Amino acid sequence: MAFTLYSLLQAALLCVNAIAVLHEERFLKNIGWGTDQGIGGFGEEPGIKSRLMNLIRSVRTVMRGLRPPFLGPEPTRARCGGLSHPPSPSAEALLRVRGVERLARLMATRRALKAVLVDLNGTLHIEDAAVPGAQEALKRLRGASVIIKFVTNTTKESKHDLLERLQKLEFDISEDEIFTSLTAARNLVEEKQVRPMLLVDDRALRDFQGIQTSDPNAVVIGLAPEHFHYPVLNQAFRLLLDGAPLIAIHKARYYKRKDGLALGPGPFVTGLEYATDTKATVVGKPEKTFFLEALRGTGCEPEQAVMIGDDCRDDVGGAQNAGMLGILVKTGKYRTADEEKINPPPYLTCESFPHAVDHILQHLL
Ligand SMILES: *[C@@H]1O[C@H](CO)[C@@H](O)[C@H](O)[C@H]1NC(C)=O
Ligand SMILES: *[C@@H]1O[C@H](CO)[C@@H](O)[C@H](O)[C@H]1NC(C)=O
Repeated sequence: MAFTLYSLLQAALLCVNAIAVLHEERFLKNIGWGTDQGIGGFGEEPGIKSRLMNLIRSVRTVMRGLRPPFLGPEPTRARCGGLSHPPSPSAEALLRVRGVERLARLMATRRALKAVLVDLNGTLHIEDAAVPGAQEALKRLRGASVIIKFVTNTTKESKHDLLERLQKLEFDISEDEIFTSLTAARNLVEEKQVRPMLLVDDRALRDFQGIQTSDPNAVVIGLAPEHFHYPVLNQAFRLLLDGAPLIAIHKARYYKRKDGLALGPGPFVTGLEYATDTKATVVGKPEKTFFLEALRGTGCEPEQAVMIGDDCRDDVGGAQNAGMLGILVKTGKYRTADEEKINPPPYLTCESFPHAVDHILQHLL
C-alpha cells in the first residue's frame, strides 16, 4: 500500500512538473528566450507535442509498476511463488492488464465494490457451529453500505430452513438475502413460464410455493432420494421425450453423508439426459448463471461484486468466471494448495471469513 501511495505521489509530481515545464516554455518564448529549437526539427511547436508525449510516456512508465489500488496488495501472487515455476513475464503482464481492465470497468461505472456474496456451509458456519468471529465480521460488513447475499447450492433445504439455522447461530440475516440453487431454479421456471414436475426433496417444495405444477411440461430435478424410483423417473423420462425442458439444481456426482458417501443428483440427471438425448440446464454453482442470478435486481454488475467461499472451483472459480472477484477461505472443505486448482488463481486466499471481511473493508471499499 505504501508503495502504491508513493507511486501515485510520484505520478502526481510528474504531472505538476510537466505542466510547470510547459508554462515555463511559454513564458520563455514570450520574452523571446524560447529553448525548444531542435527537439522536433522544423520549428512548428515541436516542444509542446513531444513534451506531451513524453509526459504521457513517463506517467505510463510510473503507472506500469502500479497495481490497481482496489486490488490491494498482491496476496495471491505471493502464494503463487510457492509454485514450481514463477509466472512467466507475459503471464504476469496479462494478469496486470486484466487487473487494469477490471479497474477501468469499475471506474467507468464510477463505483467501487457494491455487493458481497457469501457461501454458507464451510464459510460462515460449519454444520452447526459458526466460524469463530463470523457474526461480528458480518456486522462490520453491514456497517459498510454493500449489498450482501448468502448463496448456496443446497437441493433440499428451503430458504426458510437455512434462515432458521443461521438465526440459531446468531447471524443477523433476512430471508430475502438468501439465494440458493432452488431460488435459481424457481426463477428459471418463472422465466420460461412452464409447469414443472418437481423431483426435489419434500423440504425444498416450500421454495416453489405458488408455482403451478399440475399437468407438468417441464422437469426440475434436485437430490430427492425418496422420489428416485422407477415409476417417477419414468414419468420424467416421458415428459422429456415430449419436449419438456430438464432443469437440474446441480450435477454433483456424490456427496458425503454421516454414514458414508452417497449418490448425488448428477447420476440421475445424467441418466435422464442419456435416455432422452437431451441436455439439462444446470442452475447451481459453479454455473455462471447462478452468480448472475444472485445479483439480479440489485443493480450491481458482476465486476462490482466479490464472492467469498471455501470451494475453490465452485465458489471462487465460478464467481471469477462470471466476472466477479473470488476470495477463498481456508475453512470448511479447503485443503492445502486448493488455490492452485484454478486459473486465474483466486483474487485472494485467506484464513477465514473475518479475514476476508477485513480485506474488503480495507482494500475494496
Ligand atoms: C454444490 O454443487 C457442487 C457442484 O455441482 C457440488 O460439488 C457440491 O457438493 C454441491 N453442494 C451441495 C451442498 O449440494
Ligand atoms: C458442510 O461443510 C462441511 C465442511 O466442509 C462438510 O463436511 C459437510 O458435509 C457440509 N454439510 C452439508 C450439509 O453440505
